Amino acid sequence: MLPARSLFGLIRATGSLFEPIVFLKGIVMGSGLKIAAMDLVKNFVFSDAVPMQYRWKILKKLDWPHLEYSMIRSKCLFIGDVRLGEENYLNRQVFIDGSATVTTGSHVQFGPRSMVITGTHEIGEAKCRGGKSTAQPVHIGNGCWIGAGAIILPGVTIGDGCVIAAGAVVAKDCEPNSLYAGVPARLVRKL
Ligand SMILES: CC(C)(COP(=O)(O)OP(=O)(O)OC[C@H]1O[C@@H](n2cnc3c(N)ncnc32)[C@H](O)[C@@H]1OP(=O)(O)O)[C@@H](O)C(=O)NCCC(=O)NCCS
Repeated sequence: MLPARSLFGLIRATGSLFEPIVFLKGIVMGSGLKIAAMDLVKNFVFSDAVPMQYRWKILKKLDWPHLEYSMIRSKCLFIGDVRLGEENYLNRQVFIDGSATVTTGSHVQFGPRSMVITGTHEIGEAKCRGGKSTAQPVHIGNGCWIGAGAIILPGVTIGDGCVIAAGAVVAKDCEPNSLYAGVPARLVRKL
């Protein structure tokens, strides 16, 4: 396995090997089958069939223009407005809900099955507690490491240089350079 720096170098050096997928997008968008067919294209791009070092390049030409040199492993899923900074690393099955904008700084790492959630509901009446839909943006600062299975909730800002422990549920803003863990996530110590 190549070290991460070499992999990012490889990404930079690579041309658009996946232009055919972008061509396919053109056909799909002109066909009248837009939504279902685009879902198929996106599912393919997030599948194991596409090497992780190319995935961001293709996604950038689909719905996510704000991706730069990120390793995005298979079975991740983006919805809505997702903007990743340079050289992020997303392990398998990371889910990012960009119902409101999600931004990350550079060199942010996401553990497997971690999630960023921006959409939520007002609490409705007893017959349907999931009331009116709302969404609040999330920002994750430079250099953060989000542990496996952690969940970042709507409206949260995580300061630069934080570690979010595996399984944490982050409901409030996190101070920079700090370790947070637990449900709800609490400050464990400054780093
Ligand atoms: C947070 C982590 C990095 C450990 O950091 P650390 O500095 O070594 O922290 P410690 O193990 O000394 O733990 C400090 C405290 O946090 C608690 N803690 C650590 N990890 C925790 C977690 N995931 N959830 C809840 N509490 C946790 C410890 O129990 C300890 O509590 P105490 O002081 O009451 O005893 C590690 O536990 C973790 O979550 N790693 C993520 C692994 C992962 O996601 N891997 C995927 C690869 S991308």
